[in-house]
Amino acid sequence: MVQLLPSILSADFSRLAEEIHAAERGGGTVIHIDIMDGHFVPNITVGPPVVASLRNVTERPLDCHLMIENPDRFVEEFARAGANWLGVHYEACRHLHRSLQLIAQNGMEPGVVINPATRVDLLIDILPMVHHVLVMTVNPGFGGQKFIDFSLDKIRRLAELRAELGLNFQIEVDGGVAHDTIGAVVQAGADLLVAGSAVYDSGDPERAARGLLEAAREAESRRNTQNFHRARAAAI
Ligand code: DX5
Ligand code: ZN
Repeated sequence: MVQLLPSILSADFSRLAEEIHAAERGGGTVIHIDIMDGHFVPNITVGPPVVASLRNVTERPLDCHLMIENPDRFVEEFARAGANWLGVHYEACRHLHRSLQLIAQNGMEPGVVINPATRVDLLIDILPMVHHVLVMTVNPGFGGQKFIDFSLDKIRRLAELRAELGLNFQIEVDGGVAHDTIGAVVQAGADLLVAGSAVYDSGDPERAARGLLEAAREAESRRNTQNFHRARAAAI
């Protein structure tokens, strides 16, 4: 079933616990935390101490999206802080295979993240190692940007590869996920939907999260019906 991941980047940082709880009441099941270092992306956010504090206020998995250079240096620290999923950028890892191994060795679910300009097919060899592939649908660094349309082809390609290779990683999408895009993203094959401004800019994160999740679930049931008919037609 598709899941909604509230991204706290657009939340009120002075009230993070309340903001997280509101999105949880609206159906958010995994908390997405954006870690930026001012080098890999032109913005700075939070690090392990904030992750450790948030660990104390929610039982939900914490999905840490590292937008930092040389992420291997911080893997152990994020594990100690209580991160559950750790996603590293393909573009930031000189030895991606090693980074993913390190994350798994530290007891977290490894994820790989690709920028809009990075091709999905570059990931083929490491797909069996990952828990999730995060397709950036905006250039990373800021909330509230416009969804890049060609990303839908990348999501479709990933779903196709997953089926071809018989794998079961999750497909996560981040950037510009809102009412006008969430249906298409789910139709294309996404499972994990990160939403920042669409949840928090409304002033009522509980209601906004609920609305997004409803739209996503409707698209998911359409997708399942289509897949069922396709499989049946192929079997005849
Ligand atoms: C951007 C971050 C996103 C951000 C998305 O670099 O990775 O998680 O919060 O924000 P929206 O949903 O507003 O595009
Ligand atoms: Zn993110």
